[in-house]
Amino acid sequence: MKVVLVTGGAGFIGSNFIRYYLNKNQECVVINLDKLTYSGNLSNLDEVVSDNRYVFVKGDILDKDLVLRILGGDYSPNGQKVNRIVHFAAESHVDRSIKDSSPFVQTNIVGTQILLDALRESWNKEDSDMRFLHVSTDEVYGSLGETGYFTEDTPINPNSPYSASKASSDLLVRAYYETFKMPLLITRCSNNYGAYQFPEKLIPLVINNIVKQENLPVYGKGINVRDWLYVMDHCEAIDVVLENGKLGDVYNIGGNNEWKNIDIVNLLCDLVDDALGREKNSKRLIKFVQDRLGHDMRYAIDASKIKNELGWSPKYVFEDGIRETVAWYLENKAWLENVTSGAYTDYYAKQYGDGV
Ligand SMILES: NC(=O)c1ccc[n+]([C@@H]2O[C@H](COP(=O)([O-])OP(=O)(O)OC[C@H]3O[C@@H](n4cnc5c(N)ncnc54)[C@H](O)[C@@H]3O)[C@@H](O)[C@H]2O)c1
Repeated sequence: MKVVLVTGGAGFIGSNFIRYYLNKNQECVVINLDKLTYSGNLSNLDEVVSDNRYVFVKGDILDKDLVLRILGGDYSPNGQKVNRIVHFAAESHVDRSIKDSSPFVQTNIVGTQILLDALRESWNKEDSDMRFLHVSTDEVYGSLGETGYFTEDTPINPNSPYSASKASSDLLVRAYYETFKMPLLITRCSNNYGAYQFPEKLIPLVINNIVKQENLPVYGKGINVRDWLYVMDHCEAIDVVLENGKLGDVYNIGGNNEWKNIDIVNLLCDLVDDALGREKNSKRLIKFVQDRLGHDMRYAIDASKIKNELGWSPKYVFEDGIRETVAWYLENKAWLENVTSGAYTDYYAKQYGDGV
């Protein structure tokens, strides 16, 4: 039976992954270790909270004793030892890393090292079918010009404190694989979109602001290009790599779906206005603001390795995925209110959301 430790499972991708995993597997245990920072929200998991295969542990990946107890089975319903780890927990927003990189160094680098050390201590090479998947980002590769794609062999060249912290953690994972031959895997994906994303990131922030008829602050000229991947496609790809990926390898995961930021903002204006039955005039809210420092121009993933070796490619058509996403945010106003009010207000866009 799979006993999965998911770190950062109360965040955007982690919570979607937990729902996906419990739906897909009858017999399994999922233990969610999450510190509940501003971007972690237990209401992301309302649907599974009473599932007896799901366990929530509030805690920090920097707490090695806690991680060791979880791996040893102390938090599993029947004391089962963990045999899968999917590591999402991270500080994830580039703008915040530009303002203060310390939490990024702590969680993303030191936290990953602590998880690796806890696994090294508890892992029994002989009787374990353990697999640990480290979820990383295409941002570790740096920025592309107008042409070309990131492959797994593209040299790491991070430009923001966020991507530098993720690249550092990738290198630790690589080094622990080379040194200790631990059962480790790395995935690097492009920008995800979908339900339950904290509304400091481009798509939910823009939807939220259109609904409230507030300014849509777009960095520079809005010509930076991102490759958008539906979060449910990403969850499936993670599961495929977790079970079938070659240990020690890196797998790129992309949507083959490049968009300029300004085109996404324009599209969202039309979709939200349409869905709310309003006159299509929200584009007037677009305000170009001073560009993000060190703003990467273009990311684009070559995902042929995961397709050729593991048979995965994205299933969702962007036009459908983005419509479903818009509909979800419009139907879940209470969730939006919850995550952008009260204790979250200090961190929310007023302070950090300079642009998208
Ligand atoms: N969102 C994207 O488009 C994207 C793209 C590529 C890679 N990634 C990577 O995917 C992972 C998940 O991203 P996301 O968008 O879901 O992030 P998120 O910010 O929505 O969620 C991060 C989660 O980690 C938790 N967390 C933070 N520090 C912790 C700590 N010290 N101990 C335990 N839990 C902690 C938070 O409470 C939160 O629940 C990250 O590693 C990120 O780098 C995200």
